[in-house]
Amino acid sequence: MPPKKPAIAFFGVWKDMEVYLAEQMKGLPYANYPSALDPVKINSCIELLVVFVESKVTSAVIQALPQLKYIATMSTGYDHIDLKAAKKRNIAVANVPVYGNVTVAEHTMSLMLGLTRKLFLSAERVKEGIYDFHGLRGVDLAGKTLGVIGTGHIGQSLIKMARGFGLTILAYDLFPNLTAAKKLNFTYTNLNSLLKRSDIITLHIPLTAATYHFINKKNIALIKKGSYLINTARGALVDPTALLKALESGHLAGAGLDVLEDEDLIQNYEEIIQGTCTACELKTSLINKLIIERQNTIVTPHNAFNSTEAIKRIVDTTVLNIKAFIKNKPINLVC
Ligand code: NAI
Repeated sequence: MPPKKPAIAFFGVWKDMEVYLAEQMKGLPYANYPSALDPVKINSCIELLVVFVESKVTSAVIQALPQLKYIATMSTGYDHIDLKAAKKRNIAVANVPVYGNVTVAEHTMSLMLGLTRKLFLSAERVKEGIYDFHGLRGVDLAGKTLGVIGTGHIGQSLIKMARGFGLTILAYDLFPNLTAAKKLNFTYTNLNSLLKRSDIITLHIPLTAATYHFINKKNIALIKKGSYLINTARGALVDPTALLKALESGHLAGAGLDVLEDEDLIQNYEEIIQGTCTACELKTSLINKLIIERQNTIVTPHNAFNSTEAIKRIVDTTVLNIKAFIKNKPINLVC
């Protein structure tokens, strides 16, 4: 009898990724579901589960999969997976630690430039048939101070780019990397000092219990008046109520966001109408809408990772992760 092959299930693989994934997974049996994981319809035979960030691997999902041995996320962040529940069942969890540091940093730069040069307002005006620059004055990046929170892979890639724009860099990280600071010519400082001194602040830390609402009502007040806030890391790093108030009062000049707290509820009217979301999630959804509608915000739909090159790297590393696990030599484990 041939050896039993693992039951591998991919969730959320888009049409344009399928061919490349099939080439890389040649010889390994797998099922491919184009949509995010649906806890109600889940097949209990899955042994190896592969997901993107929109698939929430909760304790209930893990319980519904008695054969589950391994979870691979096709992302760097893994806050959508209940690591505690996985650990309890001895289920290994792997991520893609590096695939898009340059990709996400480039998106961060575009949000920064889009805001400081009023790019979308300018383009919108021309499309409306008005060819007039009055009221569209921006500010230079050169000579300003950029505060980078989190100097890991993405933070460092961004610093390299930002230096090219003539920005002075202040940084904050739980584990300062002094070698990188010397090589890339930036200065570490404490969080409060970074908030007070930066003209633009950008977040590149993971979402954990310790970093939830990392930018909040209290410390947003420390930010220099007229600064910009950029978040391409995770939505819940920023308290949306505090952000909206700071934007409304003019304390912040603008915000560039690729991520929002409870972003999975945006356009998920079914969940809202059925009342399955909490009052708190409902409030966040409303605040998100108000943030999105403002003239001084640019919000993109968690798209910073989404370049052709990065997607290829994600598939490559995910397939390597799966093969290594099957060979009993797991790599890139986060749990
Ligand atoms: P990384 O692990 O290389 O760097 C994270 C840095 O944050 C580390 O230097 C770490 O010491 C620091 N850090 C962790 N907790 C901290 C705390 N409490 N205070 C201060 N510093 C802290 O991660 P990488 O690759 O740079 O990615 C950062 C985040 O970007 C990811 O966790 C992910 O959530 C997000 N991301 C977003 C994407 C998007 O499409 N919008 C795509 C890829 C990543």
